[in-house]
Amino acid sequence: MRTYRLAIIGFGNVGQGLAQILGERGDVLREQYDVDVRITAVSDLKLGSLYNPAGFAPRALLEAARKEKSLQRVDAPQHGWDSIRTIRSTDSNVVIELSPTDLQTGEPAISHIRAALESGKHAITTNKGSVALRYQEMSELAALHGVELGVEGTVMSGTPALRLGTELLSGAGVVKLQGIINGTTNYILTQMQDGKPYADALADAQAMGYAEADPAGDVEGYDAAGKLVILANVLMHAPIGMADVDREGITHLQKTDIREAEEAGDVWKLIATLEKNAAGVVAHVRPERIPRTHPLASVRGATNAITFTTRLLGDVTLIGPGAGRLETGYAILCDLLAIDRHRA
Ligand code: HSE
Repeated sequence: MRTYRLAIIGFGNVGQGLAQILGERGDVLREQYDVDVRITAVSDLKLGSLYNPAGFAPRALLEAARKEKSLQRVDAPQHGWDSIRTIRSTDSNVVIELSPTDLQTGEPAISHIRAALESGKHAITTNKGSVALRYQEMSELAALHGVELGVEGTVMSGTPALRLGTELLSGAGVVKLQGIINGTTNYILTQMQDGKPYADALADAQAMGYAEADPAGDVEGYDAAGKLVILANVLMHAPIGMADVDREGITHLQKTDIREAEEAGDVWKLIATLEKNAAGVVAHVRPERIPRTHPLASVRGATNAITFTTRLLGDVTLIGPGAGRLETGYAILCDLLAIDRHRA
């Protein structure tokens, strides 16, 4: 049995989603994959931090987070370590970095991930800012220390878009991709299509936890641009940055635009496109009016989709959840099991 001792940095929706999955599926992981996954440390700015080398029952952590809004009263030999000390000084062998995304600085996630890799620990993150800004550098650091960096949850949550591209389609030669990679804007556009005003649709997306802390990141296209940068770097080995993405959001779309499109049998979608050509890589995010027959036209609500255009297979389309607590928690498990396969 191989044992993974997790230090979780940031215990919000995604961290709690992961704890729920481990609580419910820990037995299956032991029986089916011969892996024992334990949460041995948690550090969260609001809930506090704690460490127990023997591991915590996921349910105890979840109950404390939900009922007491604090982890201070969960029994543990060690409380109160900050994130960096939790990363460096616990006996964890995998650091799960889940701090809030900052697409401008990538911090504090970049410092957390560096500390983990330099300590010889695998790092798994769902933090889009750090990966959009520093993927190349962090993956080189991981290689230098003989550990892995998992980033599956940064694009399409647990729907394995990155792994499909890097592991399963790489031999087919991905030359282009086109997708709906922001759930909030797709939800808003779908609701507007059904007659709801923009502001109400945005408020719903916020209430359902799809939107970023500052929803301007979604509706102005920054979140989709960040994910496109990640896809370019991880999948196409193209070292582009945020400034290389031509970006336009959905805020100028009016009810009349949506209605006119509807009457003509079209729909508006926020489409992210990445294309490799002789000159390099072209990347843009913009609202596009597409016919109902287009493969992305029927993708509704917070669902995401990517069509990969490959040399050998033609188009391959992946559709699935793009956000959510369990959905993103699952992305971490997906990375952890991949690390285990590589090590086994
Ligand atoms: N705000 C993001 C979205 C969350 O709406 O897609 C998932 O990355």
